Amino acid sequence: MPTILAIESSCDETSTAVCLDGKILSNVIVNQTVHEKYGGVVPELASRAHLQNIVPAVDEALSIANCQLPIVDAFAFTQSPGLIGALLVGAQFAKSLSLAFNKPLIAVHHMQAHVLANLIPDNKPGFPFLCLTVSGGHTQIVLCEDFLQMKVIGQTIDDAAGEAFDKSAKLLGLPYPGGPLIDKYAQQGDTNKFKFPEPQIDGLDFSFSGLKTAILYFIQENKKKNGNFIEENLHDICACIQQRIVSILLNKLKKAAKQTGIKNICIAGGVSANKDLRKSLEEMGKQSGWKTFIPPFEYCTDNAAMIAITAYHKYLAGDFADLSVSPSARAEW
Ligand code: KG4
Ligand code: ZN
Repeated sequence: MPTILAIESSCDETSTAVCLDGKILSNVIVNQTVHEKYGGVVPELASRAHLQNIVPAVDEALSIANCQLPIVDAFAFTQSPGLIGALLVGAQFAKSLSLAFNKPLIAVHHMQAHVLANLIPDNKPGFPFLCLTVSGGHTQIVLCEDFLQMKVIGQTIDDAAGEAFDKSAKLLGLPYPGGPLIDKYAQQGDTNKFKFPEPQIDGLDFSFSGLKTAILYFIQENKKKNGNFIEENLHDICACIQQRIVSILLNKLKKAAKQTGIKNICIAGGVSANKDLRKSLEEMGKQSGWKTFIPPFEYCTDNAAMIAITAYHKYLAGDFADLSVSPSARAEW
């Protein structure tokens, strides 16, 4: 019955969680609002904010879980990938706790954790399953054969899906992160008004940079003819951009399901909060005879609960890290 304290600090959320025997008891997420005015995450500011947030966030996760540090059986942290200065804060904090309390340390891969977030709710996928992981930094189709056995079978060759949302939003003059705003405005838009191209990429890989360029030219041309083009058509433009990004994602997922014959299909990552993606996945699932799984929102965006659940399975497998372990900005699986 291990109790695990997990820390996630790979980007701009400081998150802490306590997990008892695979059940999440607390999941604290402290958002860093300092980046909003810069139009993107500023790495140096993220590290400083993690330093400020980490002690209260650990305290809060312990107190919600009604747990004290001496009864924690292992300390887990996100090792990679992420912003190196941000990762260092969580890694160093977890290492210090491990040293002070003489309890094992568990290093977790952030992308593996996004996939295993699907194992937190009671309604879990059986193995094998496919997971479409879509965030601000990554877009992957992962084939998960067992708790810690997974491989990436498709990924983006340029921008991530979240970046495609955020960069499109920026072109429309919307603040960062623009993904949720495109989602919001798209709800009242007409998806047939404008047509954006679908990239032709072989296999299961994705590409979003061509779409971004097409949107840029589309806006420039139309603004030349009508200075108020964006304001007058915002909802329809958002609906058409969103519809294209979602169709790019789901067409590849459908292809992956067909190739592998797997019918348990999950999504993960911040973009899985998108209403159109969730609805379209469920519809495609019904048509294709899939069982679909979408984690609750708090486990979709960056969170320590997913680090804790992954650490729990690593604990059971006896997969512990040495105190000399270092975080890494990039990491192969
Ligand atoms: O997983 P996440 O919280 O952080 C990363 O690891 O990147 O994902 C953040 C991304 C951002 O690009 C944000 O715009 C996007 O998820 N996002 C959305 C929505 N909510 C968050 N994109 C589209 N629709 C949404 N509702
Ligand atoms: Zn993430």
